[in-house]
Amino acid sequence: MNNFKQKYGPWALVTGASSGIGQEFARQLAAAGLNVAVVARRQNRLADLTAELESKHGVQTQTIPVDLTAPDYLDNIQSATADLQIGLLINNAGAGVPGAFLKQSVDDYTRVVQLNVTAPMQLAHAFGARMIRQGRGGIIFVSSIAGYTGTPYMANYAATKSYLLNLGAALNVEFKPKGVDVLVVSPGPTRTEMMEMENTDFSNLPMSWMTAEAVAAAGLQALGKKPTVIPGGMNKMMNFMATRVMPRQTALSMFGSMMSKGMDPAIL
Ligand SMILES: NC(=O)c1ccc[n+]([C@@H]2O[C@H](COP(=O)([O-])OP(=O)(O)OC[C@H]3O[C@@H](n4cnc5c(N)ncnc54)[C@H](OP(=O)(O)O)[C@@H]3O)[C@@H](O)[C@H]2O)c1
Repeated sequence: MNNFKQKYGPWALVTGASSGIGQEFARQLAAAGLNVAVVARRQNRLADLTAELESKHGVQTQTIPVDLTAPDYLDNIQSATADLQIGLLINNAGAGVPGAFLKQSVDDYTRVVQLNVTAPMQLAHAFGARMIRQGRGGIIFVSSIAGYTGTPYMANYAATKSYLLNLGAALNVEFKPKGVDVLVVSPGPTRTEMMEMENTDFSNLPMSWMTAEAVAAAGLQALGKKPTVIPGGMNKMMNFMATRVMPRQTALSMFGSMMSKGMDPAIL
């Protein structure tokens, strides 16, 4: 991991590091010797994490408690990191609102677009420019396997993830000659707080669950080697079937039927 630190250090900026996949990215980066700046709303969680990383790995840390849907979030992140040499941006924070499209409020969907689309795009623009000036660095976008096909009853969420998939894949080509690696990580079902969304219970569905640790490790492993990665053999196979073997409509009906089985009828 020494080369990793030289290429992507000395600081990494990880959004959504207060739980789940983002927390694991932060842990694995600190274990590789990178200093870590962590972003999320829950300041106490970030403080616990940074205390752990400093004592376990002897790295420097910075907590940046911001809401990525707030109008001044970018200014706050820029000023908190003005003196840090950020070599790696992990655009991981994200959320979704489950249910039939018209059952949920358009304001909630708009906040999801701000969090899942606008913020990662703006952060990639701001930090991509800084990295290209340095002549090196990396950006990871955390999309979702749902982004490859779309997903009924998570329609807006899946569409935001399609945006990240396409943005990241294109930036991989644009930034490569300038020394900056871009990767899109598209996890399948992963055991995190996100899968405990209100009015849902996906625990009994026939899905292949991964841990946040394994997802983050697959992302760090693939960075610099390819433009996109789907963690897990089962997820890769599922995505191959859904995008290359089945007609798209069949895949969409299958995902819709599976999603609706994990949702309370009140939101369908
Ligand atoms: N779990 C899965 O099955 C799965 C599958 C595919 C893709 N993903 C993607 O993986 C990424 C990480 O999700 P996860 O599964 O690790 O879920 P998680 O445990 O719920 O983590 C989500 C993170 O995003 C942060 N966040 C949410 N809203 C925010 C806001 N407005 N401002 C700042 N930070 C915010 C949360 O922190 P605060 O609440 O403290 O702000 C938290 O740290 C997401 O992009 C998600 O779409 C997850």
